[in-house]
Amino acid sequence: MSDLLKIGVLASGRGSNFQSIVDNIESGEIEAEISVLITDNPEAYAIERCRKHNIEALILKPDDFPDRNSYYSCIADDLVKRGVGLVVLAGFMRVVGKALIDKFPNKIMNIHPALLPSFPGLHGQKQAVDYGVKIAGCTVHFVDEGVDTGPVIIQAAVPVYHDDSEEALSERILKKEHEIFPYAIRLFAQGNIKVEGRRIAVKAHREGMSLVNPPLLD
Ligand code: GRF
Repeated sequence: MSDLLKIGVLASGRGSNFQSIVDNIESGEIEAEISVLITDNPEAYAIERCRKHNIEALILKPDDFPDRNSYYSCIADDLVKRGVGLVVLAGFMRVVGKALIDKFPNKIMNIHPALLPSFPGLHGQKQAVDYGVKIAGCTVHFVDEGVDTGPVIIQAAVPVYHDDSEEALSERILKKEHEIFPYAIRLFAQGNIKVEGRRIAVKAHREGMSLVNPPLLD
């Protein structure tokens, strides 16, 4: 049996983050394999991406289960059966249930389109535009029972411009999502993420850069 990390992906929609993970695995950047994509949405474009890359897609709709707990127990059992070592939420538009979290403590990662703890929940990009912040971004974090409250693994910042629409900012943030999410998964696969309570120690290659927006004039 190989000890290659097995990843289970949960997604609800277009799956561009899922695609970025697949691409990074296929190019050898991430040493892991995707065992299954589970979706709650039969219309999710992520299913089409699975077809193209020969990945099993499993549609599990919450309405087909008696309650939330049995839904997440079923997902957890399926992932355990497959020997999954990391669960990735790539645009999974639900708050994950305890039955799944308990089976994968600090082994479920989510990408959120805001610099947490600012703007959790839905429409993080719109919240940032409406609030008028000058710097926005995205966060990869481990999942706990709260809404976007788990320990932060990595964040990327982008400037917010005065005339930004929600769409323009979302696009700028999404580009960074596609960089940091696969990177976080790669760190996990390499064993380079250490959980110390809420603080995550990551083996970094160099010091981070600061971003000032609007830029200072000379
Ligand atoms: C992304 O904005 C992600 O941050 C959020 O849901 C969206 C999913 O997009 N959690 P995609 O399906 O990966 O394209």
